[in-house]
Amino acid sequence: MSRTPVSARERSVGTVAMRWHGGSLELLDQRLLPDEEHWITLEGASGVAQCIREMVVRGAPAIGISAAYGVALAARHAGGGDWKAEIKQAIRELAASRPTAVNLFWALQKMEQEFAGCHSLDEAVKRLAKVAVQIHEEDLAANLAMADNALAHMAAEKPFSVLTHCNTGALATGGYGTALGVIRRLHEKKLLKDVFADETRPWLQGSRLTAWELAQDGIPVTLNADGAAASILAAGNVRWVIVGADRITANGDVANKIGTYSLAVLARHHKVGFMVVAPSSTVDMALASGKDIPIEEREGTELRQIRGVSIAPAGAKVFNPVFDVTPASLIDVIVTEKGIVSTPNVTGMKSLFS
Ligand code: MRU
Repeated sequence: MSRTPVSARERSVGTVAMRWHGGSLELLDQRLLPDEEHWITLEGASGVAQCIREMVVRGAPAIGISAAYGVALAARHAGGGDWKAEIKQAIRELAASRPTAVNLFWALQKMEQEFAGCHSLDEAVKRLAKVAVQIHEEDLAANLAMADNALAHMAAEKPFSVLTHCNTGALATGGYGTALGVIRRLHEKKLLKDVFADETRPWLQGSRLTAWELAQDGIPVTLNADGAAASILAAGNVRWVIVGADRITANGDVANKIGTYSLAVLARHHKVGFMVVAPSSTVDMALASGKDIPIEEREGTELRQIRGVSIAPAGAKVFNPVFDVTPASLIDVIVTEKGIVSTPNVTGMKSLFS
């Protein structure tokens, strides 16, 4: 389908992952990047749930925002019979799409609360669309605030290099990005030398999305194999490792893309700062520690094949958890739009999020 012209606002916050048109949602198919920019138009919650499950759209905040739009679509296209049952079923279907990023459940809870106050389908159509747009806009605002908070904490005077993992940019959020938003801001302030981007096996969010997104916006990026991170940190060229999060628990443990934990161990060993950047919608104070976070395991084909081409024996046994948990003790600072938690622990998390 043809692409709607990009607005000035969108240009200033990076590439966009989704567009809302009231009666339909467009998602940029991230499975096809960087080769093809293809947009998928959705008019129902089932299609949105499928897109989340199949990684058309991914990244914790973007998943939550898409799900919120999915609920708004369910209202908009409800049959008119038992519309309440239809919307409830849509919420259940969206909630079952992916288990780890808490932003999904946070957004659905907000939509459910709004839905509970609606007395007619007409009212639900209007109110649910309004809240979904609000969730989207608030995420963008949170990203901009987090970039301010992170830069204030870093107090840098001279340009330096950073290393990042997975994709945490405009493609993974409502715009601008979490960890990549901080990197974007460092670049805007001329404080960024280079970004080392882990390729992020097995789905390759780093090479396919982060390298593409940064290149699109003219931000310097050097792609590296995940296994090269140790030597890059050992060489002393990186001041901060900056990553996003899919769920942060009450003690400051952080679930993020598989491989984040090993990076945190490396950063501590090499005395490099380790920063986690995430909006408060990623914080789950109901879970005591990272041990309680459900970790998604995806199909073995993600490791046995790349885009349909075999790179392992067809029957090879595979273990494919797509997130890991970094213990709070390895994290120097968690940055949110509400403020920062240095050397996170239960007390620090409670003081910001109780
Ligand atoms: O499997 P994905 O691509 O949805 O995983 C994404 C990540 O792990 C990101 O680092 C995280 O969601 C933060 S995005 C702002």
